[in-house]
Amino acid sequence: MPQLPRYEYTGPVDCTIPTNREVLKGKSVVVTGGKNRMGEPTARAFAAEGAFVAISDLDITKGNGVAEELKLYRNAQFVKCDTTSWEDQVSMFEAAIAHSPHKSCDIVIANAGISRASGDDLWPLDDPDSAPVKPKLNIVNVNLIGTMYTWKLAVHYFRKQPDTEDWDRCFIMTGSMTAWIDSPANWQYTSTKYALQGLMRTARRNSHEQGIRINYVAPCYVKSAIRSAEDEAQADI
Ligand SMILES: NC(=O)c1ccc[n+]([C@@H]2O[C@H](COP(=O)([O-])OP(=O)(O)OC[C@H]3O[C@@H](n4cnc5c(N)ncnc54)[C@H](O)[C@@H]3O)[C@@H](O)[C@H]2O)c1
Repeated sequence: MPQLPRYEYTGPVDCTIPTNREVLKGKSVVVTGGKNRMGEPTARAFAAEGAFVAISDLDITKGNGVAEELKLYRNAQFVKCDTTSWEDQVSMFEAAIAHSPHKSCDIVIANAGISRASGDDLWPLDDPDSAPVKPKLNIVNVNLIGTMYTWKLAVHYFRKQPDTEDWDRCFIMTGSMTAWIDSPANWQYTSTKYALQGLMRTARRNSHEQGIRINYVAPCYVKSAIRSAEDEAQADI
């Protein structure tokens, strides 16, 4: 198992130091929500460095196209997976491992997410004279429950890696800048991204015991399918 020190804050990461991409060759990578804006270039970047990438998403059509293109590198596959389904995610991890050269799971990127553009029914004010309306909490299901399933399964499959010290175990979540600021109207979305920050802060205190590194990426506004018309208007201000 990889040996990692206990987590300790050592100041900002120096991003001017070039990263050693050589270490990605032959690694097995899972990217959820991988067929669109943020996931797709991530998958491509890993594949270009010789990693074996399982790109997963809801929709097989476009995702398959990406995997077909990436086959130019002979090291990518598309796996249909709804991250709110535990069974789908188990199949995704099994497919990633089966396709990889060392039958391993090394880097997991929990990227699938939706926003209020998909409907957020937490705040809309219902008629107080009618029965209260139960919210669907679909954003919580994808962004939080889905990512927690990914984390739980990543830990399970990391621990099946070849038992050598130089084997890395890395979990990356796509969080959001909204986990550090007030974000009006983003009821469920902001709640889930704060929750994922909580998951990262909890995990980093224990995950070194299993040789697992955990990272939280917090993008600002990026033009993508996830954004609502209201978000676009705000970003243009
Ligand atoms: N675009 C932004 O401004 C922004 C900012 C901060 C964080 N993010 C985060 O980045 C991540 C990627 O978003 P994006 O901007 O690339 O959006 P996107 O809509 O282009 O990509 C998200 C992908 O997730 C997939 N997805 C949605 N529900 C899923 C499910 N249940 N199972 C599997 N896949 C599912 C979608 O089909 C889509 O391909 C999200 O977690 C999002 O919250 C985006």
